[in-house]
Amino acid sequence: MVNFKGTNTSWGLIAKIFHWSIALLLFWQVTTGISLHNMEFSPLKIGIIGSHKISGTVIFTLIVLRLLWRFFNTHPEYKSLPKKHKITSNIVHFILYFLVIFIPIQGTYMTWLGGSDVSLLGLVEIPSFVDMDFILYQKHLQIHYYSAIILTSFFTVHIFAALYHKFIIKDKYEVWSRMVSKNKKV
Ligand code: HEM
Ligand code: HEM
Repeated sequence: MVNFKGTNTSWGLIAKIFHWSIALLLFWQVTTGISLHNMEFSPLKIGIIGSHKISGTVIFTLIVLRLLWRFFNTHPEYKSLPKKHKITSNIVHFILYFLVIFIPIQGTYMTWLGGSDVSLLGLVEIPSFVDMDFILYQKHLQIHYYSAIILTSFFTVHIFAALYHKFIIKDKYEVWSRMVSKNKKV
């Protein structure tokens, strides 16, 4: 039997699916974003922007559902993890959650400033409440870019921390296994 919900020692299957699908989508999102940053205006760029907007709203929806799921479910405690590690990882996780919520909202606002529309999951158009403003759009494009760079830096730190737990200290505190191992009911 698979454990869908979390326990005191492991994330449940649903939380893991959220974590890994958002991680994959974020790699895609940052890759398309950085390509856009380096591209001249062209029909290809317009196409990539279209898919980037859709995947950005998918990430946003998944992160909201993930946080709701986290709020209403048991999540694992850090048993013996030293206090310093605990505090650092809580800060990094908080910043990751914050940026993954902030960037899509800011990206939506920026898109409206540029005079384009945004559809949630590519299905439902979100009514815009801002007027087109190209100067402000350019400023927001910079904010969008630098926020994505900060996000990339933090998730790189996060990935290295996870690898450190797995390979250097051999998962002494079971931080790796609670997000990676198979979920079986005991
Ligand atoms: C976590 C999610 C997101 C990340 C990491 C991200 C990242 C990026 C990056 C790095 C760029 C390149 C910026 C530049 O050209 O300097 C970009 C461009 C863009 N993003 Fe996002 N983005 C996200 C979500 C969104 C969302 C939800 C929308 C709108 C619905 C959006 C709309 C755009 C648009 C329209 C551009 C192209 C701007 C242009 O080149 O004129 N992004 N994104
Ligand atoms: C290959 C890439 C990744 C690996 C190996 C990885 C590994 C892990 C591991 C082992 C945990 C469990 C830590 C714990 O329970 O304290 C975790 C949790 C977490 N990861 Fe990742 N991760 C990756 C990508 C990402 C990305 C791209 C994000 C960006 C949003 C992210 C956000 C989080 C968050 C917020 C948590 C804490 C869960 C919570 O407290 O709700 N991870 N990750």
